[in-house]
Amino acid sequence: MNMRTQFRHSGRDISYLDVVGPGPSQPQTLLLLHAFPLAAEMWQPQLESVPAGWRFIAPDLRGFGSSSPGDPAAPPSVGDYEEDVVALLDHLALDSVVLGGLSMGGYGAFAVLRRAPHRVRGLVLADTRAEADGEVARASRDGMLETLAIGGAAAVFERMRPGLLGVTTRASRPAVVERVRQLALAQTDVGIRRGIQRLKTRPDSTALLSRLTCPAIVIVGEEDEITGVDDARRMHRQIAGADLAIISRAGHLSNLEHPEEFTAALARFLATRFAP
Ligand code: MLT
Repeated sequence: MNMRTQFRHSGRDISYLDVVGPGPSQPQTLLLLHAFPLAAEMWQPQLESVPAGWRFIAPDLRGFGSSSPGDPAAPPSVGDYEEDVVALLDHLALDSVVLGGLSMGGYGAFAVLRRAPHRVRGLVLADTRAEADGEVARASRDGMLETLAIGGAAAVFERMRPGLLGVTTRASRPAVVERVRQLALAQTDVGIRRGIQRLKTRPDSTALLSRLTCPAIVIVGEEDEITGVDDARRMHRQIAGADLAIISRAGHLSNLEHPEEFTAALARFLATRFAP
């Protein structure tokens, strides 16, 4: 059953999707963090195929979907994502979970690893990178803020479309393009603006990779033009014993672009590394 639920934390709503697969009454939990500028619904293909013995939870990150943007006077940082993930785990009385993130969601996962590593018992890093933004990327974030100010969410989506979706999807999967467009257009300007500021100011997380002791998998779409196969291979080399899955005919949003292959790689990782 796919359930949307929300709770209050520090005067804000935190909203999430929660799906329990078939099997034991005490399932293991995978928490999935979404990409920019989207929301928890981007995990729909995976939420529709939760394996036996697992529970998948996908929150809307702060300011996206149905989660409140928070205090407008507080400077946004990826630490906000850590705060909300930990609040969600506390709310659900979950000591630790397998934590997954795609792109911006991966940056959120790194924020949790930095400040609350004991809450993470496994890691899924999809189409993301550990490095902080360099000068060029930060300038491009400023350009994106201008695009947002002029044209709103629709203009941000059009600017991102070529990188966000792989060449195969853009050419032959119009329903996926439309689904991503709808999700992006549903986001508020304030949520997107504060999201961009978090992307731009996130710290470098490279040092976390070699310190990881939990099972991990790096997943990447072979046509990803934002955080490509080279980034994925570099992260994979830095994490001892990690798995690597390269998703064929998929770009940056590999879980949506080729869901069968992504979901199978994820299920294999969970079954082999977290056998009950
Ligand atoms: C995302 O998909 O979350 C963004 O592309 C991340 C980024 O721009 O760094």
